[in-house]
Amino acid sequence: MSEQQAIAIIDSGVGGLTVAREVMRQLPNERILYFGDNARCPYGSKTPEEIRAYSFQMIDYVLQFPLKALVIACNTATAVVLGEARRRLHLPVIGVIEPGARAAVMASKTGRIGVIGTETTIRTRAYEHALLRLHPDLYVVGLACPAFVPLVERGMQRTDEARETVTKTLGQLRHEELDTLILGCTHYPLLAPVIQEVLGEDIRLISSAEETARELSSLLCSGQTEFPPALLHSPDHLFMTSGDQEKFREIAEEWLGRNLTVKRQVLEKSFQS
Ligand code: DGL
Repeated sequence: MSEQQAIAIIDSGVGGLTVAREVMRQLPNERILYFGDNARCPYGSKTPEEIRAYSFQMIDYVLQFPLKALVIACNTATAVVLGEARRRLHLPVIGVIEPGARAAVMASKTGRIGVIGTETTIRTRAYEHALLRLHPDLYVVGLACPAFVPLVERGMQRTDEARETVTKTLGQLRHEELDTLILGCTHYPLLAPVIQEVLGEDIRLISSAEETARELSSLLCSGQTEFPPALLHSPDHLFMTSGDQEKFREIAEEWLGRNLTVKRQVLEKSFQS
């Protein structure tokens, strides 16, 4: 196993792969250590206490490896634990909500922005706060879409069932005259073609993946923190899941377009840790 310091990317399941893909594209020499807690996905319908406990179990696990940064590639976990993780860890921690909000503000022309996410992400109004901090005059509407993550976790994103679910769920946004929609859950970019088809080409879909990778890249290149340089050969990535290894590998290989070795790693069961 390589000793090159890695960028850890964590998510409740396969959603963070949308961020991993962008990090691989923007920082091809960096080593990625991915952890998906598929066994306990979805996080979005769990209590903040459970989300906090599960997220820190993942964080504590990845901290056993030599790391240069941690990306919480899950909006739900970002909304609940980002502040605490930044205070507790002695390494740079990046979430996905601020980068997503920034990208949406840059993209919107009318200032009418929608946010779709898990129940927890929408309930915390984390995007709304981040957006209004950037621009207080925006019109922001949030909608929880609890049926989307299970579709993606089952690899069903291109099926009729996905189209019907997306059409039914997003119907109420049609009258909001939004010009920008934040995919406020890292699983949703895997459903982006269907979402775009249902809402029409005039609405701009924002995935925080690209902007998150950009923030990571400027952090690693900023010179403010001394990071060992990335090695100039193909990095030895490591993908881990607490769930079904084969299912994870299938979705990850399709999304990342390369063969992967996936390791199964079970985390503690209890959330009262
Ligand atoms: N992908 C995650 C997010 O960005 C969470 C999905 C879930 O576990 O509910 O919010």
